[in-house]
Amino acid sequence: MSTPTVHRGLAGVVADTTGISSVNPDTNSLTYRGYAVQDLAEHCRFEEVAHLLWHGELPTAEQLAAQDAEERGLRALPPDLVGLLLALPPTAHPMDSLRTAVSVLGANDPGEDDNSPAANHAKSLRLFAALPAAVALTQRRRRGLLPLEPRADLGYAENFLYMTFGEVPEPAIVRAFEISLVLYAEHSFNASTFTSRVVTSTLSDLYSAVTAAVGALKGPLHGGANEAVMATLAEIGSADRVEGWLSRALAEKRRIMGFGHRVYKHGDSRVPTMRAALGEVVEARGGEDLLAMYEALASAMLREKGLHPNLDYPAGPAYHLMGFDTPTFTPIFVAARITGWTAHIAEQLARNSLIRPTSLYTGPAERRVGRGAPPA
Ligand code: ACO
Repeated sequence: MSTPTVHRGLAGVVADTTGISSVNPDTNSLTYRGYAVQDLAEHCRFEEVAHLLWHGELPTAEQLAAQDAEERGLRALPPDLVGLLLALPPTAHPMDSLRTAVSVLGANDPGEDDNSPAANHAKSLRLFAALPAAVALTQRRRRGLLPLEPRADLGYAENFLYMTFGEVPEPAIVRAFEISLVLYAEHSFNASTFTSRVVTSTLSDLYSAVTAAVGALKGPLHGGANEAVMATLAEIGSADRVEGWLSRALAEKRRIMGFGHRVYKHGDSRVPTMRAALGEVVEARGGEDLLAMYEALASAMLREKGLHPNLDYPAGPAYHLMGFDTPTFTPIFVAARITGWTAHIAEQLARNSLIRPTSLYTGPAERRVGRGAPPA
């Protein structure tokens, strides 16, 4: 029998087809349902992109108004969930709170196991609408502040920022935040999305698939990198310390968070748009020193390792300057990616096949249980 080829990390494996997004590493391009992500970031509200991912088309004015009305009515967390999140240990990472929130929303949904397209779309919209309140609650709690009720007169991004900070910030900040949500929304078969498809393929429920995806996104090699970027920049301290810090870090074989990508080897298609948004945030809020350090590390990494930044690199400092605490960064990524995950869950169910790869065994050769005398 010939030895099968092992694809560690499933690198280069085409696991299925998808009509949701397309990543082309040769041209550094990413499209959602055929639209370039830069085009969407420039022209669309995040709610429109959510509609596009779920339904395959950008909404008409009527469709958007109907979706907005429904979403705005679903923004508040049930009081028992608020109580439960506030009862978690204050040391719990906000990603743990979010994972719990999704799970509890599922347990409280009498239709949890209804996998019909209509029921799953309703659940997707419910999670999309409610997660900003959970993210905002965790940041406010860290600062000793009570959660705020959502405002139905505000768009998604404005309301998210209002619930976190108690006021709607200046338009430049709202726009940069919205751009980050659009860029984070979807990225084909990344680790967390693939996780959600694996769980869905067993015909489990949408909340279980999303809970598992939150767990996958938490890791620093995936979504957790946007928090790790900020920790790195804080550790370095200033632009003039970048060179010395990097040579020590590389000598210690450390991974520099926010750089490199499994698919993009010549640069992440989303970075120029997010870098421009970071520039707008710096213009509105200050942070020139942070930006100088950002540029110095990016140049040094390209020179030393030939590695380009990924989306987490500009997103981390942008969120920091907007006023988010570092542990809130990956939860924001969850709130955005819920759109992509749930679109993939629907696509998986529409043409389901159990995802179950095989492995090449490398353990001990077959043997028998010993029945000899016990050791002395
Ligand atoms: N810093 C230092 N070295 C790196 C980095 C990095 N960020 N990324 C890759 N390398 C090096 C590895 O050490 C390895 O070197 P070696 O061959 O000498 O051992 C080589 O590049 C290949 O690394 P792999 O992990 O095999 O490459 P892969 O394509 O699988 O890695 C990954 C992709 C995991 C994202 C990697 O680049 C990484 O760890 N980056 C840092 C974490 C990060 O930023 N994650 C966010 C991903 S994007 C997102 O979620 C929005």
